[in-house]
Amino acid sequence: MLIHAPHLINCPRYDPRAARLRLRTGVLKTQAMIALDLPDEAATAALAARIAALAQPGDVIALRGELGAGKTAFARAFIRARGGDGPVPSPTFTLAQLYELPAGPVWHFDFYRLKRPEEAWELGIEEAFPDGVALIEWPERAEAVLPADRLEITLSQGPAANSRRAEIAGGPGWAARLTALAEGRGS
Ligand SMILES: Nc1ncnc2c1ncn2[C@@H]1O[C@H](COP(=O)(O)OP(=O)(O)OP(=O)(O)O)[C@@H](O)[C@H]1O
Ligand SMILES: [Mg+2]
Repeated sequence: MLIHAPHLINCPRYDPRAARLRLRTGVLKTQAMIALDLPDEAATAALAARIAALAQPGDVIALRGELGAGKTAFARAFIRARGGDGPVPSPTFTLAQLYELPAGPVWHFDFYRLKRPEEAWELGIEEAFPDGVALIEWPERAEAVLPADRLEITLSQGPAANSRRAEIAGGPGWAARLTALAEGRGS
């Protein structure tokens, strides 16, 4: 099921400073890195499915890359792999969409249209980050709200029109899982 995110701007308990402490935001301390060539969109979808199998509630996955790099394509395959069988539109205009899936909620954010990083708090990230898996397109628009322990996936154009390069970096919580990914386990 697809639900648009609540806006918390008028929530009386909303306290950005306390939220920042609770979400343990900070600079990513990279513990593990992988680089992969994705020859076509099916390869991107397969990578998304493997990472979806490794993801747990509380994970934040930042999706970086230029316009058209494949961030939404990755997120769509991730959500499908976790049991989403409905449409997965780009959250370019809604900024946040919630998928209540059998394995737990998945939030899909697109920060591209944020005017200020602080607006990210109004999308419900304080509830989304601890409880579900959060996929975030254009995380650079609100770098300061990202948890220090997160997964970063950077997609870039490969040598052919439909090829992409994925660079994957994870914090301490992802080190063992990225080893499993690199070794082909967890798929
Ligand atoms: N290997 C690939 N991986 C992902 N997408 C691919 C690949 N090859 C071709 N594509 C195409 O590239 C486009 C990627 O679009 P997508 O909306 O996912 O980009 P985006 O990174 O989310 O862009 P935006 O910043 O505008 O949100 C799609 O049309 C998709 O079909
Ligand atoms: Mg997109």
